[in-house]
Amino acid sequence: MATSFPDGFLWGGATAANQIEGAYDADGKGLSIQDVMPRGITTPPSESPTPDNLKLEAIDFYHRYAEDIALFADLGFTVFRFSIAWSRIFPLGDETEPNEAGLAFYDRVLDELERHGIEPLVTISHYETPLHLARTYDGWTNRELIGFYERYCRVLFERFGHRVKYWLTFNEINSVLHEPFLSGGIATPKEQLTQQDLHQAIHHELVASARATRLAHELVPDAKIGCMILAVPIYPLTPNPDDVVAAMHTAHANYAFGDIHCRGEYPGYHLRRLREAGVELDITDSDRDDLRYTVDFVSFSYYVSVCETADKAGPADGRDLFGGVPNPTLPQSEWGWQIDPQGLRVALNDYWDRWQKPLFIVENGLGAVDELVEIDGEPTVLDDYRIAFHRDHLVQVGEALTDGVRLLGYTTWGCIDLVSASTAQMSKRYGFIYVDRNDDGSGTLQRYRKKSFEWYRSVIASNGAALS
Ligand code: BG6
Repeated sequence: MATSFPDGFLWGGATAANQIEGAYDADGKGLSIQDVMPRGITTPPSESPTPDNLKLEAIDFYHRYAEDIALFADLGFTVFRFSIAWSRIFPLGDETEPNEAGLAFYDRVLDELERHGIEPLVTISHYETPLHLARTYDGWTNRELIGFYERYCRVLFERFGHRVKYWLTFNEINSVLHEPFLSGGIATPKEQLTQQDLHQAIHHELVASARATRLAHELVPDAKIGCMILAVPIYPLTPNPDDVVAAMHTAHANYAFGDIHCRGEYPGYHLRRLREAGVELDITDSDRDDLRYTVDFVSFSYYVSVCETADKAGPADGRDLFGGVPNPTLPQSEWGWQIDPQGLRVALNDYWDRWQKPLFIVENGLGAVDELVEIDGEPTVLDDYRIAFHRDHLVQVGEALTDGVRLLGYTTWGCIDLVSASTAQMSKRYGFIYVDRNDDGSGTLQRYRKKSFEWYRSVIASNGAALS
């Protein structure tokens, strides 16, 4: 059956400030946790920024945004997801007055998007907590961060609300379960972090997200606020009911974030889990009131599905980055991420059935090593593997649409090559646009269209019809 996407479906790409902007200390910007993560999550953070951290310069979007947005326009993007670097607006995070030069940069980006008729989709906090908040407050473990975040949101809504309608509160909010420093700015090393402190931090983020939703609706009546979840469908490793129940438990750990964002209160299975872990949350009456401000839509990233097993002695030891065990039936990328296009259809149906809120796929992509070649005198990359990845996933999106799922749009991750979040490499490339920069920091930063550029352009131009 031909894949049919609804009229007005938003097509585009996604990025994050710390992975593209560079200019890490320009125009009054403060340090963020990313500036001390030269190896991503693979090694502990450094004391201060080190020259081998590729994010300090990244792909220099800070100075090349006009050229890059023109390329996105050429692709036919109708939406572009990017994040605002909190430490450009509040360099330390706890100041009372924002940094005007930081705000002015995003004015310029928005001007450019407007000129090309591209809808902005803004992530308010994408793995870039100001370093001062991590080091001085231990990040989201501290209740004071709710107020700092709310002040930051107020500034953004007042300044940009007239032209940004789609906002995401926290990137992959559930990833704090596995990466407390990256995701929650929590400086306490994860081996030392207690369940009590971790879940209190999560509670603070959930309250902050709800307060942002409430504030946006007050200040910008036509704004649409979404939560953003790392979607990882969990399959039982075997049909053994023990594995099915283990899969249910792991799925619940992630569902809790969406349930609270969509239903406005803690679900029973989650309260039980906290109780049994001996966690007693400090939840005030005003927190309960705040949580009732539920999101307008649910956005999510999708890269992999995983399996779960109750067999603690067996494969449960070999857990991957996503907290699961490998699926023996699936192929994997060069970085060991398993590829499962049907998992995207599963996630879409599951979330739609569960929450009945419009969905938005705001990340999906293949990190791969690309080889630059010359065709007719033009440098390019023959990335048929990337085309196949997106085609296979979009076909499943089409299936989900036919299943009746309501979906607002699709933004591919890293539409232009950028620095990896998990490993801080440049060589893990996702883009339709190649950026000449290497892991050792060499390269001209020149941009080149890959083969997938033309392919994605035809998909967008045909509103998905070119997939069939
Ligand atoms: C998501 C993040 O988890 O995955 C992005 O929101 C990240 O920031 C993306 O870049 C891909 O991960 P990686 O490690 O390949 O960059």
